[in-house]
Amino acid sequence: MKVITELKALREAIHHHKQSGCSIGFVPTMGFLHEGHLTLVKEARKQNDIVVMSIFVNPLQFGPNEDFERYPRDIERDSILAENAGVDILFIPVAEEMYPGTTSIKMNVTERVNVLCGKKREGHFDGVVTVLTKLFHLVQPDRAYFGLKDAQQIAVVEGLVQDYFFPVEIVRVPTVREEDGLAKSSRNVYLSEKERSEAPVLYESLEKVKNKIESGETSGDSIISEVTDFIHSRTSGQVEYVEVYSFPELTPIDDLKGEIIIALAVQYQKARLIDNMIISLNEEENQHV
Ligand code: PAF
Repeated sequence: MKVITELKALREAIHHHKQSGCSIGFVPTMGFLHEGHLTLVKEARKQNDIVVMSIFVNPLQFGPNEDFERYPRDIERDSILAENAGVDILFIPVAEEMYPGTTSIKMNVTERVNVLCGKKREGHFDGVVTVLTKLFHLVQPDRAYFGLKDAQQIAVVEGLVQDYFFPVEIVRVPTVREEDGLAKSSRNVYLSEKERSEAPVLYESLEKVKNKIESGETSGDSIISEVTDFIHSRTSGQVEYVEVYSFPELTPIDDLKGEIIIALAVQYQKARLIDNMIISLNEEENQHV
């Protein structure tokens, strides 16, 4: 595995691989790698000749109350994990090169952001699309890999790629789960024993309504009530939101049809958990496909 920190060296390496006709799979990260990231690498490894991972804690996507300085970093451990997972190029740029000074253009995401977790993270996705625009130009990937755990990020990135004609395929990688269905997250360690035993109810609630939708339920409101009540009656966690939208547009829908997302957030004492389910419905028959 080659570790590259300078933009010029990355451009040269990418040029070399492009000239040789290699396909490039890209896994952008902010480091402190976990199983979710390694699953993205595994998928990228299967579909591409070269796998590039970036590690860059992007200051632009942190709000004033989100602690950029305290974001966990461990480059040594990350390098070992990345290499073992099969990364060919690990790109670790420095902020001075990524953001060399004042810019003449600012990116502002206007759709898909004022819902779900984005409601409380003003400007977050502006920072995400800004850094990804830079990274996509530098890495020139054929495919870029994102986890469905953060479905809103995927929706926004798909919007970016579509609106600005980036020649990259966005690959949606399914959420990695514990055996009992709980979505894997570094935050799970903050759950008490009792909360951890209750937390699989989040995924159970999504599975339950998926069955209901497959059996013909078409009302988004009734799905929202059902998920909320199910979670409320089975855990001490406070339901922060349960929302249903078209996907990836993230617009409200009255009737459930096409591709939809049911997404939720539950606040426990020291951990806020999110989960979601994306369901593709045949428009005509309202059947799960
Ligand atoms: O998901 C993340 O880790 C970040 O938002 C990303 C995509 C690497 C952009 O900084």
